[in-house]
Amino acid sequence: MTKQDLDHLSWDEWDEVNDPRPANFEFDKVVEEAISRRGFLSGIVAFGSGAAVMGSGLLNSTAAHAMGHSGSRFAFDPIGIFTDNTVHVPEGYSWSNLASWGDPLFSDAPVELDQAIGGSVESSDRIFGENTDGMELFNINGHEVIAVNHEYVNKGTNLPATGGDVNSAEDVRKLQNLQGVTVMEVARGEAGWEVVVDSPFNRRIHHNTEMRIAGPAAGHPLLQTAADPEGMTVLGTLNNCGAGRTPWGTYLTCEENFNGYFGSTDEGFELPEGYDRYGIGLEGRYNYEGFDPRFDVSQNPNEPHRFGYIVEIDPADPTSTPVKRTALGRFKHENAACALAPDGRVVVYLGDDERGEYLYRYVSNGVYQPGGDTDHLLDDGTLYVARFDTDGTGEWVELSEENTGMNDVETRIFTRMAASAAGGTTMDRPEWVAVNPNSVEAYCALTNNSRRAPGWTNRGGDLAEPVVGSPNPRAENRYGQIVRWFPSNDDHAADLFRWDLYVMAGNPGLHSDAYAGSGNIHMGNLFNSPDGMMFDSAGILWIQTDGNDSNEEGYVGMGNNQMLAGDPETGEIVRFLTAPNGAEVTGITWSSDRRTMFVGIQHPDAPFPDGEGMLPRSTVVAVWRNDGGLVG
Ligand code: FEO
Ligand code: CA
Ligand code: CA
Ligand code: CA
Repeated sequence: MTKQDLDHLSWDEWDEVNDPRPANFEFDKVVEEAISRRGFLSGIVAFGSGAAVMGSGLLNSTAAHAMGHSGSRFAFDPIGIFTDNTVHVPEGYSWSNLASWGDPLFSDAPVELDQAIGGSVESSDRIFGENTDGMELFNINGHEVIAVNHEYVNKGTNLPATGGDVNSAEDVRKLQNLQGVTVMEVARGEAGWEVVVDSPFNRRIHHNTEMRIAGPAAGHPLLQTAADPEGMTVLGTLNNCGAGRTPWGTYLTCEENFNGYFGSTDEGFELPEGYDRYGIGLEGRYNYEGFDPRFDVSQNPNEPHRFGYIVEIDPADPTSTPVKRTALGRFKHENAACALAPDGRVVVYLGDDERGEYLYRYVSNGVYQPGGDTDHLLDDGTLYVARFDTDGTGEWVELSEENTGMNDVETRIFTRMAASAAGGTTMDRPEWVAVNPNSVEAYCALTNNSRRAPGWTNRGGDLAEPVVGSPNPRAENRYGQIVRWFPSNDDHAADLFRWDLYVMAGNPGLHSDAYAGSGNIHMGNLFNSPDGMMFDSAGILWIQTDGNDSNEEGYVGMGNNQMLAGDPETGEIVRFLTAPNGAEVTGITWSSDRRTMFVGIQHPDAPFPDGEGMLPRSTVVAVWRNDGGLVG
């Protein structure tokens, strides 16, 4: 692969090149067996009805409208697919830009992004960063404050003057500043929703912001470095993907593909034990190692042990120090979905987004008391890995010393190895978990494994071809699926659960077998690769996609990436929003009055939102009903 090809890979594609994983996972086999037991699946997931009823051929948006709307709980007419370079929402709704990469948070930053250089180094920590992802809105003494992640950077977009080459410490500094987290006040002005420039809440947290390390791994020798011999203080948070919010009003940002930032200036450096499973190698994606010794593992071999955590940020206090909560484990954290058990213990569901990794749950030892001390709740608790069984039940298996053969601290630093030892069920890329506020159940998007390009080698020769035509419903999880579980005794802290599939995405326009998708997929709601997911206060599940928008081969008729709304009770799924071509939809939150929805548009290929000749800019958009009604 050429360097340019490598630069254009998504994170999961890059991982497949650097750290290939087997094609099949236990969860897929569990689903196959469960499906072959007739009667297990709910009506929602019975296969083929969509294909049988709708036949083949692509329907237009009018047909989509007609199909999606009859007798549904949704207050809008579903939209059709789009393949253009803008955002679409249903009739009666409007949208506008809230914040795009380069927009000033402070008045000392330029109002307009310098298109020739992609913004200056000096302004790079004073502006809205790139690649918007998970977000949450907090109402703080009447102020609407959004905390939002900037997952990664597109080098060619951010460094147009060098064609994306990272040639200097300045280039590195700029890229470091454009990632992390933005905290910003927003307000509804005459021109619609806008960032409040110079608000005292505004803050950029990036790759050099000082953070405190807390929980079981704090101070451990594996977290000690020359710059931090105590192992208690770290600079920065990396690859902030999904998010979460605690019951006490703090923001949780999730470090996902942290491995890609580390490399070695010494090609002969022998990688330490534990790097391999996390995909940490000799070459980083941004050449940080060439100009910032902290990211050169030959000089600082413990630095990668200080990333891959959940970080808690207090959006109400711009001077507060973010805290890395090591008790929630170290892996490629997708998001952090919080729930409260009936006894007040805090439950956090956590996905590890890499093929063949796991779904986790954290349960605090202490209980949450409104107004009480919350500092210990994410430091002192138990971590579990999910095991799914073919009879539709499952269990959260504790990552105890007995189950893992590792001590408590080791399970938090090398959590992936602990989960393997404990016998968790390997999954196909768990993305966001969403907890239903109106019913004791949680959902997880298992996005796809569509990214295996021909010719990529599979280390260890473990790529066994599945036998097509066997009970296996799908030789490849090309379109993705959403699993959900129902905790025993209506208690998120209970160790047992029942599970089923909420949806198996598919393409009934092309297939009449299991690739047509489950019964709630039809020609009016085609999508692939569910990723971001969040319930609104009415109990509607919002599903965002990060998939293949080529509209070719298996993806014909699916349009651009999109956001859909799902009814958890009937299984009905309808399309609400489509993104510009090339972009994924990721991140969703609401104004306090629930009359505006904020949605993230990440990595558009096209020059969205400014038009021809301009740099493409990741953007958070505001969406509202023209009649001022509720949108969530
Ligand atoms: Fe950052 Fe797994 O998406
Ligand atoms: Ca994601
Ligand atoms: Ca994704
Ligand atoms: Ca992404």
